[in-house]
Amino acid sequence: MKRKPYIFITRSLPEKTIAPLLEVARVSMWEKEDEPVPRDRLEEEVEQADGLLTMVSDQIDRDLLESAPHLRVVSNMAVGYDNIDIEAATELGILVCNTPDILTDTTADLTFALLMSVARRIPEGASYLAGGKWKEWAPFLLAGSDVHHKTIGIVGMGRIGAAVAKRATGFDMNILYHNRSRNREAEGQTGARYVDFDELVQESDFVVCLAPLTDETKGMFTYNVFKQMKKSAFFINASRGGLVDERGLAYALDEKLIAGAGLDVFQEEPISSEHPLLSFSNVVALPHIGSASVETRNSMALLASRNIAHVIKGYRPKALVNKEQ
Ligand code: DGY
Repeated sequence: MKRKPYIFITRSLPEKTIAPLLEVARVSMWEKEDEPVPRDRLEEEVEQADGLLTMVSDQIDRDLLESAPHLRVVSNMAVGYDNIDIEAATELGILVCNTPDILTDTTADLTFALLMSVARRIPEGASYLAGGKWKEWAPFLLAGSDVHHKTIGIVGMGRIGAAVAKRATGFDMNILYHNRSRNREAEGQTGARYVDFDELVQESDFVVCLAPLTDETKGMFTYNVFKQMKKSAFFINASRGGLVDERGLAYALDEKLIAGAGLDVFQEEPISSEHPLLSFSNVVALPHIGSASVETRNSMALLASRNIAHVIKGYRPKALVNKEQ
């Protein structure tokens, strides 16, 4: 008798989002929603799994992939896939899928919210009030920086970068961008101007990092880069912590070389409350929630499930990352 495919899901997901998998395979999942699957359980599961539905917090490395004799597909519930060894997967004939497009607007919203929060000191204002410190109105109480009519510099003009640029047009911002290649469509739609990296860093009031983490982008935001920024400028990162030299950023904040930072991502996640970047009042830090709206997370889980179901049924999945397969 033919073996029924087996799929392992590395977090607890709502049943309606895994319906496409239940139709085609035996499915089991790590029972916790708020804790990653332990490595030894993952190692056990890949010995039998035909498919894995993974999260950004899972390290899917060569060792793991090589110990998975039946594995045909890894479907990451994220647009980024730097947690997966794509080269090893491709060599081993394992398809890797992601969840692009459906999270673009949600992530752009959060990126802009982070920018607004740090510029207008929103979390600081909220804790000031909650801490019982508001005794009098004062002309410069918690005065922040304007966002409208300022210059935003977007590093990484992919889908999310372009959606952030679109939001910036509503604030009458001057838009600069830097990317591996020109994005003429975004230029046409938003008036964004392509500039080299140094010019972007020196001219922008908001430097917004949205480039993917790759060997080329790893650690690109160094102390020397922050030093080139205007002292009144803010750094926003909603991509991956690995693009930033966090020690360099902490020095730059300490020396007041920049005005503040909005960070949704960190080099090693999760961070503890002792993390040095949390000690600055001009840093707004979030726990990697760029795409975290209920609607979008449900859509991401559903797409990640569909990607696997397509492979099991013998079709080419829509959101395939290692396309030369
Ligand atoms: C992504 O999709 O890559 C996000 O960072 C996960 O929330």
